Amino acid sequence: MSELEAPLGREGPHHGDWQYSLYLRGMAGDAPAHATAWDELERSAAAALAPEPQGYVWGGAGTGDTMRANLDAFRRWRLVPRMLRDISSRSLATTLLGTELPAPVLLAPVGVQTIVHPDGELASARGAAELGVPVVASTAADRSLEQIAEAAGDAPRWYQLYWPKDDAITASLVRRAEAAGYGALVVTLDTIELAWRPVDLAHGYLPFLQGTGLAQFTSDPAFRAALDRPPEEDVPAAVGHWAQVVNRVVTWEDLAELRSLTSLPILLKGILHPDDARKAQRRGIDGVIVSNHGGRQVDGAIAALDALPAIAEAAGDDMTVLFDSGIRSGADVVKALALGADAVLLGRPYLWGLALDGASGVETVLRMLLAELDLTLALCGHARPAEATRDAVVRSDQM
Ligand code: FNR
Repeated sequence: MSELEAPLGREGPHHGDWQYSLYLRGMAGDAPAHATAWDELERSAAAALAPEPQGYVWGGAGTGDTMRANLDAFRRWRLVPRMLRDISSRSLATTLLGTELPAPVLLAPVGVQTIVHPDGELASARGAAELGVPVVASTAADRSLEQIAEAAGDAPRWYQLYWPKDDAITASLVRRAEAAGYGALVVTLDTIELAWRPVDLAHGYLPFLQGTGLAQFTSDPAFRAALDRPPEEDVPAAVGHWAQVVNRVVTWEDLAELRSLTSLPILLKGILHPDDARKAQRRGIDGVIVSNHGGRQVDGAIAALDALPAIAEAAGDDMTVLFDSGIRSGADVVKALALGADAVLLGRPYLWGLALDGASGVETVLRMLLAELDLTLALCGHARPAEATRDAVVRSDQM
């Protein structure tokens, strides 16, 4: 907390108080380093990138219909502020699967972040760690899970698994994630095939085919053991083998296999139907992530926010429900919480910060998000995230 805040007597503990340090610095002629409006931040990040990585991050499946639906769904729900409630002492702190978090926010798993900034996943982990926000490290990351864990320091972290075809690699990745202090396993189910992505196709751009984003595999003893020559000496052969093993088609029956490999909590990412949440619960899965992969997989899919209420209801109190796909502001987080999410994963917006300013850009984006989340919750009359329940929102077409 800056010493500039002291004169206003508003230092900590609320995330929203960060705005006063910006006001005071601004009065002293020191304008914020980055845009303070989300749309402006997005535009400047897009302008900072070459067309290929820009297309990879901003692009989606097919016509982009699902990406638009994700954002539109948030506009249909409106917050209903309540008055005369005591929000003077408040906190965003949240406990998720036994881990205490500073806020109900994690960084979504995003692969190949070095296409956005040379420090890639390490920068994101460092930026998030400044606030104690967990990262969910991706199987498609361009840095090994051990390197990402080191960059995250004391902050909690989870590991996202794309389930490989080779059981030895799966077991090895899970063991490595446990050893590196990852607190939960997120299994992403919606990317068995890569969707038709017109922008990347037009650019002929898929970083993995150049050997970028294979670090989990090239650092893995079980993967390396299957190669004739080390990946450092023969990139095309490593890429070829990766393409063979990267993704197994799994079904409900296979989940028991993963459950037997680890005692870490397991979450399924990509759940969009309440029956799938119920099935997961019956199989001892600890949580689901309601997500359509940011509209990158099924064009014309249900907006993730539209899927959330029924899934939260099906999950009840026993299973953790997380949400991503379309979070673009603090107000969006409040809406997702009100519709049943225990916490949200921030996706593309942290890549904007990463593109603009590496670790410090990611930190700034998170400070913005948590400040807005704190202020919006407070101004709606909620002292804690859990107080934002279903009656905190109303559908605009039912008003
Ligand atoms: C992703 N996402 C993703 N998910 C995952 O489980 N493993 C991964 O490696 C990736 N990689 C990835 C790359 C890029 C460039 C993007 C934009 C997204 C999906 C991600 O976790 C999350 O579901 C979406 O980003 C949420 O949508 P919004 O809010 O970012 O639009």
